[in-house]
Amino acid sequence: MIIIYIQPSDFALEKTTIWSFKERGDWATHSGEYRGNWSPYVPRNLILRYTKPGEWVLDQFVGSGTTLVEAKLLNRHAIGLDINNKAI
Ligand SMILES: C[S@@+](CC[C@H](N)C(=O)[O-])C[C@H]1O[C@@H](n2cnc3c(N)ncnc32)[C@H](O)[C@@H]1O
Repeated sequence: MIIIYIQPSDFALEKTTIWSFKERGDWATHSGEYRGNWSPYVPRNLILRYTKPGEWVLDQFVGSGTTLVEAKLLNRHAIGLDINNKAI
């Protein structure tokens, strides 16, 4: 695994209900190949808005684990599960 950098340099919380990201976000530690993989900007916004460091994040549709990666990078505990045994 190659970590390019682990925090986005230009991140700012979204302030409206319309979120649009020019790039997927390349600070994450995994690829975006999993079907339905979402941009790390999405869980990063949600985690920062609704949790504090040290709290728990549950992703019950974990897929490739984008939310778990963001939770870890933001110093949250995280647990994920998925019905698909090919998910992480
Ligand atoms: C769109 S993907 C999630 C992608 C994830 N956010 C990421 O960035 O990689 C949705 C996931 O939900 C899982 N899923 C669908 N129904 C489920 C269920 N009833 N229980 C658990 N996982 C489920 C699918 O297997 C799939 O991996």
